[in-house]
Amino acid sequence: MQIHFTETVLRDANQSLMATRLRLQDFADILDTIDQAGYHSIECWGGATFDSCLRYLGEDPWERLRTIKSHMKHTKLQMLLRGQNLLGYRHYSDDMVRRFVRASIENGMDIIRIFDALNDLRNIQTAVDECLKNNGHAQGTICYTLSPIHNLNMYVGLGKEIEQMGCQSLCIKDMAGIMSPKECFDLVTALKQEIHIPIYVHTHQTTGLGFMTYLKAAEAGADGIDCAISSFAGGTSQPATETMAYALGQMGYDCGVDSTVLKKINDFFVPEERKFIQDGVFDPSVLGVKADALVYQIPGGMLSNLMAQLKAQGAIDRLDEVLAETPRVRADLGYPPLVTPLSQMVGVQATVNVLVGERYKNIGKEIKAYIKGEYGKAPGPINPELMQKVLGDEQPLTGRYAETIAPEFEKAKAELGDKAQSDLDVLSYICFPQQALAFFAEREKKKPLVATYTFEEVQ
Ligand code: CO
Repeated sequence: MQIHFTETVLRDANQSLMATRLRLQDFADILDTIDQAGYHSIECWGGATFDSCLRYLGEDPWERLRTIKSHMKHTKLQMLLRGQNLLGYRHYSDDMVRRFVRASIENGMDIIRIFDALNDLRNIQTAVDECLKNNGHAQGTICYTLSPIHNLNMYVGLGKEIEQMGCQSLCIKDMAGIMSPKECFDLVTALKQEIHIPIYVHTHQTTGLGFMTYLKAAEAGADGIDCAISSFAGGTSQPATETMAYALGQMGYDCGVDSTVLKKINDFFVPEERKFIQDGVFDPSVLGVKADALVYQIPGGMLSNLMAQLKAQGAIDRLDEVLAETPRVRADLGYPPLVTPLSQMVGVQATVNVLVGERYKNIGKEIKAYIKGEYGKAPGPINPELMQKVLGDEQPLTGRYAETIAPEFEKAKAELGDKAQSDLDVLSYICFPQQALAFFAEREKKKPLVATYTFEEVQ
């Protein structure tokens, strides 16, 4: 029995614990060793890494990708992509999605894990199609959540559709760490009966379930799991790589990873962890088990956001009311999975409903856009009264929102002019305009003098 290991230290673990502040120079020296460990893949790009490179680290995210690739001779590179939102927070035009996916593969990406927050697979279709066209590995994703309408049937249906779309593998993505060992066993078992592509399970250790969930995933025949090297594991990050490999190895699974190399990798990241604690970037208290998420069935990150919001408004005594209102708002909206950006939107609306003292007296701009269908199709029916209130006589959008967006690339390229050194700069600019412009300006300043000098051409 073989089970693949994906190492998340450079992406999800980095993002979940270290606010995505790992610089290329912080980990460049360990890349050759990582390549020797026997991982199936290394999740190293996408998610918040792209934004963080431009916004905080003064790094070109494309350069980072190419550098990582140059060290990975045996290990596949993997990234996380939010479907039509790419790595940003809005829907992009199809031409932009296609160019971004193609550029990702051309610059070294092997496996693209593609998801949509609502599990509206129309929102991953363009990215999947382009990935396949460029001989990339498209991993279709099911966002896992608990609600009265989300059940095995619905998930198996999604799995079948993902397989039919041509995806080479499937990921069950439990972003909140709320999938229990039993739920995971049942889901992987059910999917294995109906689909033939490999199944990867992604969870977080937030509620303490992670190790057990992965064990049951393996027992149900999952093909791979996502873990983080132990100094970057636990809490809101993934279960530890070494621990899972140790336990599964004893049970007869071939995990592919070499424990002596894993030890070297961990030894490298231990001082990094210490540095982040000293700088105050990483608060080790997030490593504790946060079982509240199981009680409220909302992600841990969302719970702390709600509390921060209420504290800021001097209304922390209303927390219980807000926690009671949150599932009602979610039900009114047709039970969207509580993942970015829906978790924030639902939390803010629940808080507003409680603090204003009247439900939906004020409705957030994003919630209105959601009800209009601009985020995609809600998993369940939206409360008709709420729909009437937001839409009036207007009809909700039934097609894909991206089809209403005009092509963006050429326009942005013209806008940027010589500020862009390449088409990759144009892609960065479309994703994060202000951050990219600030980055280009800094890069210009740093340019060594010799590079600005050009010899006259001699005919
Ligand atoms: Co994750």
